[in-house]
Amino acid sequence: MSESNFFDFAAPAGGVVGQPLDRIDGRAKVTGAARYSAEYPLGGLTYGVFSTSSIAKGRIASIDTTLAMKEPGVLAVFTHLNLPKVAKMPDSPERNNSWSPGQSFLPLMSDEIFYSGQPVALVVADTFERATHAASLVRVSYQAEMPVAGIVDPRAEVYEAKAVQGGRMPGRTRRGNPQAALEQAPVRVTATYTHAMNHHNPMEPSATTAVWEGDRLTVYESTQGVTMTQSALSDMLGLPRDKVRVVTQFLGGGFGCKGSSWPHTVLTAQAARAVGRPVKLVLTRRQMFTSVGHREDQRQTITLGATKEGKLTAILHEKTSSTSMFDEWAESNGKVISMLYECPNFETSYKIARANIMTSTYTRAPGEAPGTFAIECAMDDLADQLGIDPLEIRLRNYAERDPSNGQAWSSKSLKQCYARGAELFGWSKRNPKAGATRQGRYLVGMGMASATYPVHNSQGMARVRIFSDGHAVVQSGATDMGVGTYTVMTQVAADALGLPVERVRFELGDTTLPTAPLSGGSVTAGTVSSAIFMAAQDAKRKVLELASGNKTSPLFGAKPEDITVENGRVFLTKNPAKGETYAAMLEHARLTDIEGSGAGRYGGGYTSPGVNADSKGQGTEKYSMHSFGAHFCEVHVDPELGRVRVTRWVGVHAAGRILNAKTARSQVLGGAIFGIGAALMEATHRDPSWVRYTNADLGDYHIPVSADIPDMQVEFIDEHDSHINAMGVKGIGEIAMVGVAAAVANAIFHATGRRVRELPITPEKLM
Ligand code: MOS
Repeated sequence: MSESNFFDFAAPAGGVVGQPLDRIDGRAKVTGAARYSAEYPLGGLTYGVFSTSSIAKGRIASIDTTLAMKEPGVLAVFTHLNLPKVAKMPDSPERNNSWSPGQSFLPLMSDEIFYSGQPVALVVADTFERATHAASLVRVSYQAEMPVAGIVDPRAEVYEAKAVQGGRMPGRTRRGNPQAALEQAPVRVTATYTHAMNHHNPMEPSATTAVWEGDRLTVYESTQGVTMTQSALSDMLGLPRDKVRVVTQFLGGGFGCKGSSWPHTVLTAQAARAVGRPVKLVLTRRQMFTSVGHREDQRQTITLGATKEGKLTAILHEKTSSTSMFDEWAESNGKVISMLYECPNFETSYKIARANIMTSTYTRAPGEAPGTFAIECAMDDLADQLGIDPLEIRLRNYAERDPSNGQAWSSKSLKQCYARGAELFGWSKRNPKAGATRQGRYLVGMGMASATYPVHNSQGMARVRIFSDGHAVVQSGATDMGVGTYTVMTQVAADALGLPVERVRFELGDTTLPTAPLSGGSVTAGTVSSAIFMAAQDAKRKVLELASGNKTSPLFGAKPEDITVENGRVFLTKNPAKGETYAAMLEHARLTDIEGSGAGRYGGGYTSPGVNADSKGQGTEKYSMHSFGAHFCEVHVDPELGRVRVTRWVGVHAAGRILNAKTARSQVLGGAIFGIGAALMEATHRDPSWVRYTNADLGDYHIPVSADIPDMQVEFIDEHDSHINAMGVKGIGEIAMVGVAAAVANAIFHATGRRVRELPITPEKLM
């Protein structure tokens, strides 16, 4: 039963927030009723299929579409010669700042080829099969040139790019004097870590369905942000924002590859306008490897200086990664390295090498996941060199304030995560000697690592309508990537309104709804819960005004702070007999419904009036805000086959208020499993001479399946943070993956005495 005081900070005791409620959209998903972006049955629908480049660098010398055009059912074959140009290119300097294109280069606008798999033609036909067949009949002759392959290419020119303000190329950051501190350090460890290129591979491939009605465009799109996609399309097509509607009711995973606007979306819209019919385009699994970005292949060199007691005195970090021919882009690995441990001297820098590939992008904890792999392995090397327990060395370097900016933490429960994780896992039973524990033929190892993820400042809006039949509709243009946004936001709204969950419906994923941020950087739970909380306050205030001004109402003269709402009945907290239902109050006022709106903030630094005005989150810019956690991993390594199995896992996280115990646990399991995948399996390989991906399918691109994963133990530390947002919620989308690869690598080191610094740790590296 939910019950709510008007100005209560966060959720009421005994409310539904935090409860392990089953997914509200679960039934729709398992019965097929949930509509994904490629599943809208539209009249006159046609199908778009790309024909793609077989070379990685050069020009289109000629292109012949005659055969394809002759096929039955083919409506059009677009190439750079006949597809209408867009109004604004993604790299246009006068582009609006509210969207960031995945890459600056747009295919099908010129004869240039920058990467293999780049679209060279777009066929539109009346069936998918006809379009696919016709696309195979497009004949292209190329003027091919020798491509470059990035950091794996011995000819590659490696250079330090200039940081772009507000851009995606991070720059050199330094505090203190790391070089001098390193020279004086009595203990030093240095090593280079490599991370394979990774692709996101969500279950649902990216899909666009574009429908024009006159000069209005509706796009059903698999995107992590409907507003981002709306801004991108309206800019590139030269349309006012309100003429573009973007709908994403369900998303089958995103992991960052649906967090930017990529070429296929605007090209499909352009094709639909040209043929005068709705066009649906779904990327094939193989095209997913060359259309929506990836995590760049990268090397990191990290050098630690420390005292004999294991206190860090200097951290030097350098990253080198591959980027496309037209954009400078790199994950910002140094940020997490700069704040995880107390250390007065620090420097990070970034180098890149060009490759004939598309631009890389945000991928599952971009920066934090690969960055912690390096620092958390290096910390274990330091611990090993000094004969200190890995957990103990982390405690000796525990950062009581954020070392990157000197600020206090809004909350930090990492010590509790370490302690609880160690207890659940049985860390104290670990034999300190590496390679010394056996079980049958297997070498047994235990490893651990820290996790953290920042609170990225964000704001968004929500609307609440309470109807005179006693139910409510709550709306925000947010995304549910599949992790439970529908469910947790219904819980938040139910408690904030004092209604049972059955009488609340939460709607999302449409640009006609109030604007919410892109679901990226783990901001959705924190931002949207806060917006809903504020909108609910506004709606309740308006309902109460109807009664407090009405002499015949038992609530005549009541003020918001005197009131409690329970099961849709508003009453005086001190005299519960005096009250009436939302329905009765609206009935008396002859209203069918009343509407409240609210803006929510996640993180600090915002001064907009009205944003979280009622929460206690004032002056938050003084604080550094992060979630924290700890992973503990046991592996069995087969010394003859080099095969690694993760046999036990404990993850303990502290992320403020947990909105739903069940969906949160599932999300943490998913993140950790992806981390185990990155540690042991995930890699996209490219042939260095042709610069083509050689394993661009789910048969050859390995991710863990259930048989690879043990029964994992996940817990949360109860944490109250009044600075983050109105609900005290920190995101849990990405933290669960951060540090996982290091925990696995550290366990392998403990099992075998061998340090493998190359991800993924496949069997041949342990032979
Ligand atoms: Mo996430 S990689 O910030 O979409």
